[in-house]
Amino acid sequence: MLKVAIVGAGTMATVRARALLATGLVELCGVASHRAESANQFANNFNIAYATTDYRSLTTQKPDALLVELPHKIQDEVVLWALQEDLHILLGGCLSTNSKIGEEIIALCEQQQVIIECGYEARYKPCWHYVKEQLGRGVIGSPSIINAIALWNAPPNSWYYNQAASGGMPITHMTYAFINPLRWLFGEPLQVAAMSNQVKEADCHHVHEESCIVNIRFPNQLLVSLTASYITAPEKTHWHLEIFGTDGMLEIHPGDLGTGLIQHYSKENGIITSDFSDAENAFNKQAKIFIDQINNGNIGDSQRKNMLLNSPKMVINDIRIAEAIVHSAKNNEVVYF
Ligand SMILES: NC(=O)c1ccc[n+]([C@@H]2O[C@H](COP(=O)([O-])OP(=O)(O)OC[C@H]3O[C@@H](n4cnc5c(N)ncnc54)[C@H](OP(=O)(O)O)[C@@H]3O)[C@@H](O)[C@H]2O)c1
Repeated sequence: MLKVAIVGAGTMATVRARALLATGLVELCGVASHRAESANQFANNFNIAYATTDYRSLTTQKPDALLVELPHKIQDEVVLWALQEDLHILLGGCLSTNSKIGEEIIALCEQQQVIIECGYEARYKPCWHYVKEQLGRGVIGSPSIINAIALWNAPPNSWYYNQAASGGMPITHMTYAFINPLRWLFGEPLQVAAMSNQVKEADCHHVHEESCIVNIRFPNQLLVSLTASYITAPEKTHWHLEIFGTDGMLEIHPGDLGTGLIQHYSKENGIITSDFSDAENAFNKQAKIFIDQINNGNIGDSQRKNMLLNSPKMVINDIRIAEAIVHSAKNNEVVYF
């Protein structure tokens, strides 16, 4: 059994601890959290023998790997420490709060020969795989325009809403909702132009880009418009993407923890709805590939049968695009890549 320790004891630590256990190949050997109460509670829930408020002491349990599920600023500190300890890392969120730290992580990861997988589970989600396959088959012709929106009622007193703790809404929310999966489908953006505002929570400590609209040009003349915000209707998450092609349209409803739903609008067949409720959960799939890859040794990319899809090198451009969005919105400039 592979020994995995966990830092963080919140919502996603619970989701991914379950996914790791579902592999049948993992023993959870310790948990660290900010407050002793939540570490102890989490340890009780998962029958973990060691709970602490000092994440560095997790090494006493001799873990092989670490699951990190934290606010992003503290995540940076924990990841840089874990790399020095030669631990493989499943990282619940984005790679880092900025690209400079992201580059440091890439260098250390290569030096220490460990595996890091970032938490964007979209690339493992059945609905996104379906879209990739359908686009490959040309079911909507050539993709021409994407219109997408992701609104989430972030609690104002949460770390998500705190600029320093989260790294900002474009990193925390936009990379996850759109940028990571769209780069996987369409390649690297060529041009970014954004506008943002801060209306509901205007204190300087709150996220500066509380709402943001960005236009991105992707290769092959694909024009993308993304709207994201921490403001939405009460009790409602509003999240979908429409991909218009020359011969039809795919509407994607990724959903938070589920498997997602797709509606295909075609001239010949009208509206076809595909839901994936019977398919494997993306978190379980990602956890399984992460553990398999550690067990099979840190071999060269070309030899990996089941590839991890969010290695640091693969996701650092999510951070760079988020930085470009912030730069564009602040300075009223178009950013070219
Ligand atoms: N893939 C997805 O679907 C998805 C969805 C949402 C979030 N995420 C990502 O998942 C990650 C975790 O988010 P979450 O929603 O689970 O957050 P959360 O519920 O707020 O939990 C955060 C945890 O971090 C702990 N913590 C805070 N500061 C700490 C410190 N200095 N040392 C140790 N522990 C500390 C908190 O401790 P206490 O409880 O002890 O205070 C809490 O247990 C983030 O990276 C987020 O972006 C992914």
